This record gives sequence, structure tokens and C-alpha cells, in this order.
Amino acid sequence: MRVVTVSPVTPEPLAIEEAAAVLRRGGLVAFPTETVYGLGANALDANAVAGIFAAKGRPSFNPLIVHVPDEAGARALVREWPEHASVLARRFWPGPLTLVLHKLAIVPDIVTAGIDSVALRVPSHAIALALLRASGLPLAAPSANRSMALSPTTARHVERSLGDRVDLILDGGPTEVGIESTVIDLRGRRPLILRPGVIGVRELEPLVGPLGEPNEESGESPRPAPGMLERHYAPRARLVLFAREEAAGTLEEARSFAAHGREVAMLVLGESAGAGRVVRMPREATRYAQRLYATLHELDDSGCEVVFVERVPPGSDWDGVRDRLERAAKSKS
Ligand code: TXA
Ligand code: MG
Repeated sequence: MRVVTVSPVTPEPLAIEEAAAVLRRGGLVAFPTETVYGLGANALDANAVAGIFAAKGRPSFNPLIVHVPDEAGARALVREWPEHASVLARRFWPGPLTLVLHKLAIVPDIVTAGIDSVALRVPSHAIALALLRASGLPLAAPSANRSMALSPTTARHVERSLGDRVDLILDGGPTEVGIESTVIDLRGRRPLILRPGVIGVRELEPLVGPLGEPNEESGESPRPAPGMLERHYAPRARLVLFAREEAAGTLEEARSFAAHGREVAMLVLGESAGAGRVVRMPREATRYAQRLYATLHELDDSGCEVVFVERVPPGSDWDGVRDRLERAAKSKS
């Protein structure tokens, strides 16, 4: 495995060409996107994609997102391109929004876990775009971590999680958005958010009208996918969420854990009181998202056993962060 440092602003063509060559011969390249690092392979090569599942230890029923350089690249992989897709692509691509549409047969079944739809996105990161253009391939790319572990926001996170299971890592520094893209299904009567992200209801509804409610859709329902697995995006430490009203009790509990020699941390909003290792998180959702995985990686590295996390405010702006925190807090089975 090789790690190559690449400029996130003006990616060096030589490095991009090396990575494109690895992809063309069916290898795996980890690269930064604006959300998290992805583990990429040629989406049209079933063997290459099988390599992603093997490297991640990912269950085969979890479909992958396919990355393309532009709208034309997306249209080439789907049976129909509804008006909503045009509107959303024009507004949010390149960017952290993934569209689920009816797939064409050229997309191998292994990519979509056997279902008839494909998830597509145009990432905005210069390295991701350069790689898509140089390789001339659509790239299947889930987050570049072992299945069920925390998503990587730096090349170092990728290296530690996947090591020699990946052929090449392009190190473009820390990612900007910090949590995975919003996934929206455009096949039904109304668009349906399958995985919340930093692009939320408030940005989407003015463009496509009221969004659907989960379970209202008839027809093929997306099966439990990675973002839908109960426990995902999880650190090694146990994560316990607490509401503001529970702050006093939680503080006491944290102090008592610490007094018994346990490594304890508290993630609090702004100036809230904390005990043990106190991490003050931003009160603004996009800045919180940017810090979330990076912070949990740091706490895991420092041997933290329990992390008490103050619940984030209500409101749709926090949907993406709230979703990741709730999944990470699901008790270990
Ligand atoms: O930000 C991101 O989206 C990152 C970066 C690397 O681009 N990628 C990512 O991919 O998060 P992955 O494979 O870890 O997430 C796949 C998500 C799942 O939550 C699943 O629900 C949804 O995409 N998905 C993929 N294909 C689908 C399909 N055909 N139907 C419904 N949902 C699908
Ligand atoms: Mg993932």
C-alpha cells in the first residue's frame, strides 16, 4: 500500500494518473471527497467492486454509492432522469447529495446489492473530480473504513482502518463536510430522504416540494442499507447521549466513572459544564458535523472508554448529526 500526498486545491496530475491506473486495472484507491474519504473501485467491474466488500468486511446486502464526474455521467447509468433529478443536480452537484434512481443493466448487481436502483453522486472535492475525469470511470466508493467502524475524515484514519487492504491512498488533508452525503430516493411519488446529511429538508423542499415520509412508499422499498443498519458510524468507546435536563446527573456519573479510574470524556455544546476530558463542540450544525468523526477518532485514540454526548438541538438542520450520534450510541451487540 502506498500513501501519496496530493494538493486538495490543484491535485498533481502525476499522482492522479497513478491512481487512475490502479483503478483501471481493478485496484482500490482511497481518496478524499468533501464529506469523508471514499474507498474507490471501477463501478462497472464486478471483480473490482468485490474487492471493496472484501476490504471493508462489508455485508453484501449493503449497496454502494457510485461517483460520477457530472450529470451526464449519472444519466448514463440510469433508466430515467426525472425533473427532480435535474433540479437537484443543478443546485447541489458537485456536492454532498446522493440521488437514488432506477439503474441500467450496465451497473453490476454487486454494486447495488441486487436491487434495481443505483445511488449516484458528483463529489465536489478537487481530488475526487480529478480522479473521476482522469480514470474515465464511474467509481463505487463507500466510506474508506472497515464495516461498522467510524468513517474516515483523514488519510491517517483510512490507513489505520484498512492498511494493506487498499492499494493506494491519496492524502488530501482533512475533509470539509465531515459526515456522509444526504441520500434521497427519487423513484417514488415524493422524494424521500434515506440518509440525512448536511443538505437537509430546509434546502430540499423549496426545490422539490414536500418530502415523503418513510414507509408511505409502495413498490420496491430500499432494504436496510449501511446508513440504515442500527449501529453504524460507531467509535470503540461507548457513547451515551444525554439531554440538557439530565446534565447534572450525567456530570455526577462522569465524575464517578473518572474517580474509578475509567477514561471518560464529555462532548458538550458550547460552554455547558463537563467532567473528565471535556470537548466543546460548535453550536452550529455544519461546524459540528465537520468536527464529529474527527473528535470521536481522537477520543478512541486516547483510549477513552465512555463518551457522554450532549444531545444536539431540535430542528432539521441537525438531522444529519443527530442521526450519526444516535446510531453511534446504539448499544454494542
Ligand atoms: O458522502 C458519502 O456519500 C460517502 C463518500 C465517500 O462519497 N460515501 C458513502 O457511501 O457514504 P456508503 O457506501 O458508505 O453509503 C451508502 C449509502 C447507504 O446509507 C445506503 O442507504 C445508500 O447509500 N444507498 C446506496 N445505494 C442505494 C440504493 N440503491 N438504494 C437505496 N439506498 C442506497
Ligand atoms: Mg460508510
